[in-house]
Amino acid sequence: MLRKLNILTLDWPLRQERLFPRVQPLIVEIGFGNGDFLIHLAQTRPDCNIIGLEISSQSMDKAEAKIEALGLDNARPIHSRGETALAHLFAPESVREFHINYPDPWFKKKHHRRRFIKRETVDLLTSRLTATGRLLLATDIREYAEMAHGIFAKTPGLSNQFDSPWVNSRTDRFRTKYERKGYREGRRGHFFVYHRNDEPVVHPPLIEELEMPHLFLHSPLRAAEIVDRFQATRRKLGDVHVAIIHAYADAKRDVAVFEVVVEEPTIEQHTMIMLAPRAEAGAYIVRMTSLGQARATLGMHRAVEAVGEWVAGLDAAGMVLERKIRG
Ligand SMILES: C[S@@+](CC[C@H](N)C(=O)[O-])C[C@H]1O[C@@H](n2cnc3c(N)ncnc32)[C@H](O)[C@@H]1O
Repeated sequence: MLRKLNILTLDWPLRQERLFPRVQPLIVEIGFGNGDFLIHLAQTRPDCNIIGLEISSQSMDKAEAKIEALGLDNARPIHSRGETALAHLFAPESVREFHINYPDPWFKKKHHRRRFIKRETVDLLTSRLTATGRLLLATDIREYAEMAHGIFAKTPGLSNQFDSPWVNSRTDRFRTKYERKGYREGRRGHFFVYHRNDEPVVHPPLIEELEMPHLFLHSPLRAAEIVDRFQATRRKLGDVHVAIIHAYADAKRDVAVFEVVVEEPTIEQHTMIMLAPRAEAGAYIVRMTSLGQARATLGMHRAVEAVGEWVAGLDAAGMVLERKIRG
């Protein structure tokens, strides 16, 4: 069985040699759906390694099963938002091609921010392309095509391969499942092919994992008393949102565990933070746990700090003693 891959268990940045038998130029498909296009890429481009990114677990299962059944060793699906992988997995100038086929449109105006093609994402895509890299997008929604054209045309580092903003027919193209359905129902694709030109671009830095955060505190309260006083809370710390949603105590071990949701611009983590006693009476450490596969991001540093400060603030005699938290 193929080991299931997800953004939280992989190396940041990605190490090809851990996933593939050969290190080869990388092609990435974002939002691969049923995986047919991904498999077509793997079969027709044996000299490249193909990575698919998906947020749907069902799509992941289907693609994994097909890749395994076909014995393809140059394709691996990864459970991740495309945006997260661009920020944490792929170093600048490391991807030969990006394929984005029929991204979700998010029609309502209030949801436009969730659209995959937007300024920040296109800048990241451009930065991650190699010197001869290409970016290919297909959409059957005219409004989405116009929006994408508006962004691509103003992106330093990208040049349109066509004389028109897009083309409506590409005879050389393998059709995705969504595309085949669209054709049966009379919808037509708008196809974009851009290549990396030699204009310099600003590279948004690859976000690597930080050292583990921790905070030492003193409190006269026992873990069970701390949990008794718990109320769900939400904090905004810069561009990080930390929601502490549940607390559980193990009274015998004097341990408390806090369930947190940490939202950062590039990643969202739903995990646990632990409060555990130290040797000295009333002293505790607050730290991440191995439960929930969390990664030590700036947001997790903020979350450990938020839990520690909340616990220390519960009693007048409580205080933070020391913190290893990124500022
Ligand atoms: C309309 S479907 C198209 C599927 C496939 N590309 C095709 O053409 O048949 C959009 C796909 O993108 C996935 N998706 C949506 N947002 C995503 C994101 N931010 N990162 C990765 N995948 C995403 C969805 O789960 C879905 O499978």
